[in-house]
Amino acid sequence: MLKMPGWARAVAFLGALLASGTALAYTGAKWNLPVGVTEISREVHHLHMVIFWVCVAIAVVVFGVMFYSVFAHRKSRHPKPADFHESTTVEIIWTAIPFVILIAMAIPAAATLVKMDDTRNSDITIKVTGYQWKWQYDYLGEEVSFFSTLAAESNAARQLGSGVDVNTVPNYLVDVDNPLVLPVGKKIRFLITSNDVIHAWWVSELAVKKDAIPGYVNEIWTRIDQPGTYRGVCAELCGRDHGFMPIVVKALPEDEYKTWLASKKQGGTEVAAVEPTTASDAAPAAAAEPAAAAPAETEVAAAEAPAAAPAAAGGKSKDELSAAGQKVYMANCAACHQPAGTGAPPTFPALAGSKMVNGPKDAVITQILKGKNMMPPFAQLSDDDIAAVATFVHTSWGNKGEAVQAADVAAQRGK
Ligand code: CUA
Repeated sequence: MLKMPGWARAVAFLGALLASGTALAYTGAKWNLPVGVTEISREVHHLHMVIFWVCVAIAVVVFGVMFYSVFAHRKSRHPKPADFHESTTVEIIWTAIPFVILIAMAIPAAATLVKMDDTRNSDITIKVTGYQWKWQYDYLGEEVSFFSTLAAESNAARQLGSGVDVNTVPNYLVDVDNPLVLPVGKKIRFLITSNDVIHAWWVSELAVKKDAIPGYVNEIWTRIDQPGTYRGVCAELCGRDHGFMPIVVKALPEDEYKTWLASKKQGGTEVAAVEPTTASDAAPAAAAEPAAAAPAETEVAAAEAPAAAPAAAGGKSKDELSAAGQKVYMANCAACHQPAGTGAPPTFPALAGSKMVNGPKDAVITQILKGKNMMPPFAQLSDDDIAAVATFVHTSWGNKGEAVQAADVAAQRGK
């Protein structure tokens, strides 16, 4: 190698550089941007590859000239360096060439950006709302709305000292309880916003990534070609559980999507993780207008009914509420207050044996609705969910055992 003339070394170096660039680009999808499953994602991938090769070519030329000069004009060869200054020609060339390259790259990139922004003539509109730390999906005009939180299995495994080997958890931290279900072949417009801090909704295989900003609605769209499950994450540092609010998009053929949508609609506006326990309890009207629909006598009857008996005036039994409440608790509360209600004092108080939990239930409901200190408000949950989770914390871990009805929550919501 040492006997090699300068030009040969330069050539060898260029060869190595080219080879490594080629290797990088073709080591498979593992290292590269995914091609994705939409027209836009393929365009984005194409742009990415074109610009990658432009960068490789520039690197080859610039480093080639540089290393050639270093070797060919080293001190042992040319002890007396040439002495020249300023060349207008060279300056014009090295300004004009990069200018042309930049413009040539900007034209196709801008065209793709314009396409991404064109949300006209969409078939379906989905409102995506970020929360600390979950997503809400509203199918506008369809009266379907639900929350999507980290899957219970991942959530349990991620707890400190859970003892679970996370490698055994399928789709660890990129799985949710309720995926966003979409039809293939339809233009879907997303309206992206947030209820608290800035999040970002990012699914790389759809090439969709938009900030979710409180008080502001961002628009983007997609049209998915192939049925499948596509995973994404929140892409804006949004607080402690930023890494635990993944996104799962399930793309179905249109007829299957319609069947899914119809089954979701039957659940009325309440389509959270909680399953309605009986048909009569699931009456959508009660969930839709809780405050107005709860007559004062129902509220009193529910509050005074013996906790163990299924309440006569449309309330649910303590066991029903507690079972439903456990799901709500695991999805929304367990991250801080821990699955066994032990909390993480001093920041997150224990709920087991808590003075607060064993005090007046209205205070508990108010705190769930409004939050306190580190605890964010959970008013976005339905009255049924809040009643269920309040009953769960009341009746678990040796707490006093009081049932909380949706009407109790409705009454506090107005205050
Ligand atoms: Cu939400 Cu990061």
